[in-house]
Parts: sequence; C-alpha cells; structure tokens
Amino acid sequence: MSTWNTKNIPGQTGRVAVVTGANSGLGLVTATELARHGAKVVLAVRNTDSGEKAAAGIRQSAPGAELEVRRLDLASLASVRAFAEKLTADYEAINLLVNNAGLVILGPRSTTTDGFELHMGTNMLGHFALTGLLLDTVGKAAAPRIVNLSSIVHKTVTVDLDDLMSERDFDGSTAYRRSKLATTAFGLELDRRLRAAGSPIISVVAHPGVTKTNLTPRSVQENSFIQRLFARIYALNAQPVEQGTLPQLYAATAEGVRGGQFFGPSGRGEQRGHVTEVHASAQAADPAFGRALWSAAENLTGVKFL
Ligand SMILES: NC(=O)c1ccc[n+]([C@@H]2O[C@H](COP(=O)([O-])OP(=O)(O)OC[C@H]3O[C@@H](n4cnc5c(N)ncnc54)[C@H](OP(=O)(O)O)[C@@H]3O)[C@@H](O)[C@H]2O)c1
Repeated sequence: MSTWNTKNIPGQTGRVAVVTGANSGLGLVTATELARHGAKVVLAVRNTDSGEKAAAGIRQSAPGAELEVRRLDLASLASVRAFAEKLTADYEAINLLVNNAGLVILGPRSTTTDGFELHMGTNMLGHFALTGLLLDTVGKAAAPRIVNLSSIVHKTVTVDLDDLMSERDFDGSTAYRRSKLATTAFGLELDRRLRAAGSPIISVVAHPGVTKTNLTPRSVQENSFIQRLFARIYALNAQPVEQGTLPQLYAATAEGVRGGQFFGPSGRGEQRGHVTEVHASAQAADPAFGRALWSAAENLTGVKFL
C-alpha cells in the first residue's frame, strides 16, 4: 500500500461511478482518474456550469472519457431526491458512489433548505439520503462500493445526538468537524448493515489528510484576520491535491479492500504521505453510536434503508 499511486488503479472499463462535488479539488481528481482508467463518471455537482468546465478539463487529460454532468445540491433533500430519481431511471446499475462533496463555512450558523445545520445537513445528511436512495441500484452492479469522505479533524470532537444541529453551542469549525465525525460513523455503520443484510456492496471510508483544495480558502472569505492567517498556515502545510486524493482512490478501486476499512495518509498526524489504513475515533467506530445516528438520520431525512 505504501507505494500505491494512480498507476496502480485497476481498469475501470464498464464501471459506472458517481462522484459528488466532482467539479473541484479532491472530487475533480477522483473523477479524472476514474475516467482516465475507463469508468463512465457522473459528475454530481450543484453548479452545472462549473461541472461542464470540469468535464471539459477531464476530457483534455482523458480524451474519449465518458462523462455526464448532473445537478445535485446536497443541501436540499428535494434536489437529492430529484437527482436519485433521474439517475436510477437512467442507470440499471452503479458500481461506485463516492460521497466526496463537502463544505466548511466559518461564518454564523446557517441551515439547509430543510432546516438542518449547514455542515451536518450537507456533508452528512445529504449523503445519507443520497446513499439510501441509490442503494438498490448500487447493489445491482458488479463489485459495488460506496466511499465516504472523513477528515482527521473528526477525532477532535464528539457528537451529541441531542444536539445534532449544533443549536446549543455553534461555531463553524466545530460544526464541520462534527459533520465529519458523523460521516465517518455513517460509513462504518453502513458497512455493518450491508454485511448483516448479506449485500455485495462494501462501504469504505477515506480521508485526505491536509490537502490543498478550494475547501479552506473559500471558507474564510469575509472572515477574520485570524481565520485568514489560519488558512494561510493550513495552505502552506497542505499536500498537493493529486497526493491527497490517493486514499479515496485506493478506497474506491484498489483490489483487496474490505468493507469497513478506513484509509488516509501515512505521515505524521496522518496529514500527508502515502496511503495507509487508519483508525476512526472511538465514538465514530462505536456500533451503538452508529445505530443511534442512523436512526436519527432516517427520521430527519425520511429516507429509511437497511
Ligand atoms: N482538503 C482537505 O484538506 C480536506 C481534509 C479533510 C476532508 N476533506 C473532505 O474532502 C471532500 C472534498 O473537499 P475538497 O477539499 O476537495 O474541497 P473543495 O475543493 O471545496 O470541493 C468541495 C466540493 O463539494 C461541493 N459541494 C459543496 N456543497 C455542496 C452541495 N450543497 N451540494 C453539492 N456539492 C457541494 C463543492 O461544490 P462547489 O464547487 O459548487 O462549491 C465542491 O465541488 C470534502 O468532503 C471535505 O470535507 C478535505
């Protein structure tokens, strides 16, 4: 695993992959590499102009790439439902779902169109609903996988299920970190449920360490000097996006990957480096927490599965 890179990606011809947030950062590199290796890739993006620009760029590095741009706003359950409805009508089987999209907004508390705290609603609940709505179609494909994007910062918080929407003590950074803990717990609980159901789908989790993308600069627009300084230090530490994407590409494509595994960079503090297996925080890995979170997510989104 230590020297694994994009040259090791097995042929993806005949596979259909859906990548959320495929117009930018880690999602764009994921979509590019999957397409370069022969997959048909659906770029699930909230802004289709930006998605079409990304697709044009991918075609330059992967001539003949099979790409489709579709609109998906994870901050709206109506958009998630519309996306899933059209996709499942058009595709009999989906081999790979990469729940990659995510955002950090360090400003005042805001909500999705359904009233969920923006980070929890977009990063976790949107992907929870999407996964549930696509699950049957994913289950019909050969060697099906679902990958969820975690972050090392999930280890710096805990989630109180009585305050999933951070109404009691909001700050943007904490809310983002909580959403990443919930996403990690979701990915691990998903695999436990898939195994219990005898499903062929495996659920794998990955994190990119500290990677230079649009995530941090965008999050600090219109914010304080300290936040901009923090972002500058973050950017200086960050590894190139091609390197940061390897854990999720490994999770999505490498042979021998098992459901419930979690991959990240091997360097100090898991911030950068080669792909290795890493561990989730105690709460994210706790099956009792996973079950309770699942039931909360089902109630909030109205999407019930497994
Ligand atoms: N970069 C890091 O160091 C780092 C570390 C840990 C985890 N991650 C995770 O990696 C994933 C990818 O982030 P990135 O670093 O590549 O950042 P990025 O360059 O900002 O990309 C984030 C993507 O998510 C999309 N997105 C945001 N809100 C959305 C919504 N409501 N509906 C659909 N798509 C939405 C963005 O679309 P727009 O372009 O339209 O905004 C963009 O395509 C995220 O889950 C993030 O939490 C990143």
